[in-house]
Amino acid sequence: MLPLYVLVLVAVFIQKGETYTCYSGSNPPQCSTCGGGSCTSDNGCSCNYDLVTPCVPNSECASVGTNICCPSGYFWSSTDNCCTDTLICNPSCLSDEICTNVNNVATCTCNTTVYSGLSVSSISPTVKCDSKLMTISLSKCLLESFGFDTTTFQLNNNSDACRNIYTEVIGGLTMQTIQALPETDWCGNIVTTDSSKIYYNNMLYIGIQNKSLITVNPANISFSCSYNLTMQTVLAASLHPTLSTVNISVSGQGIAETTMAAYWDAQYTSPVQQDQDVPVGSNVYLGIYADIMDSSKFVLRVENCYATPDNNVNNVNKVAIVSGGCPANQGVTAEVQENGVTLQSRIRFSSFAFQGQPLVYITCDVRLCDKNNTCTGCNAARSSEDGAATLQIPLNFLDDYSSSASNTVVSSWAMLVSSLLAYLSIKLF
Ligand SMILES: *[C@@H]1O[C@H](CO)[C@@H](O)[C@H](O)[C@H]1NC(C)=O
Ligand SMILES: *[C@@H]1O[C@H](CO)[C@@H](O)[C@H](O)[C@H]1NC(C)=O
Ligand SMILES: *[C@@H]1O[C@H](CO)[C@@H](O)[C@H](O)[C@H]1NC(C)=O
Ligand SMILES: *[C@@H]1O[C@H](CO)[C@@H](O)[C@H](O)[C@H]1NC(C)=O
Ligand SMILES: *[C@@H]1O[C@H](CO)[C@@H](O)[C@H](O)[C@H]1NC(C)=O
Ligand SMILES: *[C@@H]1O[C@H](CO)[C@@H](O)[C@H](O)[C@H]1NC(C)=O
Ligand SMILES: *[C@@H]1O[C@H](CO)[C@@H](O)[C@H](O)[C@H]1NC(C)=O
Repeated sequence: MLPLYVLVLVAVFIQKGETYTCYSGSNPPQCSTCGGGSCTSDNGCSCNYDLVTPCVPNSECASVGTNICCPSGYFWSSTDNCCTDTLICNPSCLSDEICTNVNNVATCTCNTTVYSGLSVSSISPTVKCDSKLMTISLSKCLLESFGFDTTTFQLNNNSDACRNIYTEVIGGLTMQTIQALPETDWCGNIVTTDSSKIYYNNMLYIGIQNKSLITVNPANISFSCSYNLTMQTVLAASLHPTLSTVNISVSGQGIAETTMAAYWDAQYTSPVQQDQDVPVGSNVYLGIYADIMDSSKFVLRVENCYATPDNNVNNVNKVAIVSGGCPANQGVTAEVQENGVTLQSRIRFSSFAFQGQPLVYITCDVRLCDKNNTCTGCNAARSSEDGAATLQIPLNFLDDYSSSASNTVVSSWAMLVSSLLAYLSIKLF
């Protein structure tokens, strides 16, 4: 029998854990001695008979017990269901923090000895590159133990719009994080491209704590995200691309942000900019893509594309470029390079102009096609079941005779130079 007694004793001891001296005063009273209490996380606990008389939780009100319910200098122990004068942080501190008493408030502060012996050069941020967001994180306690002030995080532009900072717990450590957008011209981003990728570079500036003893210099840490060069990613890297975007809602699948843009090149990586003229007879590449969470169920299908001299899609001069998913053969040379196979469609056509009209509006009817149905081929339209939308972009197709001759020559040259520049900028950086 003896070993059994020993076991039971040990078990009781472990279960009870560390025991604390519980608050036993009567001013304020314990909630159990004032006929029960009610608590809120903002205001602590008060006696039920009189909501302005505070009470101290014990087994009564234990489920809502936190430090705010305890008298000054007391801290909530969830093991003992009482307020105790032993310092306890609620919630408990992370592995690189220590619970300290700051003006009688139990506060988790950094345990600087965890990071002693490291050098500033060991600081390297975690950079997460999502398609629409870059997040740069560093351990708050690591930085603070060097003497940095993590609230000073900023990018290469100190305006408020560029300082989206917050803390979050990742992998058991508090990280100070700043967000940046992978877009050209955003808060000091420097955008470069090579033949296959787009790079967004920026700088994280971290200032130092305001202390009499200065142990570190403010730091600038450069970071970058790279993205594959695609018809989609190149648009965010362009200054003023010609594009149109609509949201297609798909029942039960959320929305698909769908974008159409015009490109100079067969790789669909050099977008036509808003101020660029396209010479009549040159190739124009229409790229259309849908951004949808679940890409496994749908493909994008372009049903029709047509050109009009103004934004009225019923204009009598309307010319079809694509009809029923295939080239319309109405005098405009077109090639449907990809359609109904993935979430992007690619259409090449030869540019043209309406007599005496500066702009040509290209309009396309698109839909998300359930992969279970037929989405390729000509005249497959069964659009009632799927989300559909219409996209329109204006393009300046420059013909050599409708405007005055000298103007035209100048513009053509300007266009050639700018398209060459666009090509070079993609090619050389
Ligand atoms: C602080 O960190 C050091 C090193 O990791 C550790 O030995 C020490 O126990 C920690 N201090 C507290 C109070 O947790
Ligand atoms: C900083 O960013 C803001 C907001 O994006 C912008 O308005 C401002 O011009 C930028 N300042 C500099 C110096 O780039
Ligand atoms: C730095 O601290 C000193 C004294 O604590 C204070 O007078 C001064 O205003 C602080 N400077 C900044 C930039 O916060
Ligand atoms: C960090 O960058 C800013 C802005 O470019 C510059 O003014 C500052 O001198 C740099 N600081 C360090 C320590 O390199
Ligand atoms: C980027 O391109 C590479 C090579 O073409 C490919 O393996 C990779 O999956 C692409 N990444 C994304 C996110 O599309
Ligand atoms: C599409 O919806 C998203 C999310 O609701 C929104 O942020 C975006 O601005 C919308 N785009 C358009 C073109 O309406
Ligand atoms: C397509 O068919 C599969 C299996 O036949 C089914 O599980 C899936 O839900 C269907 N997709 C849609 C969008 O209806």
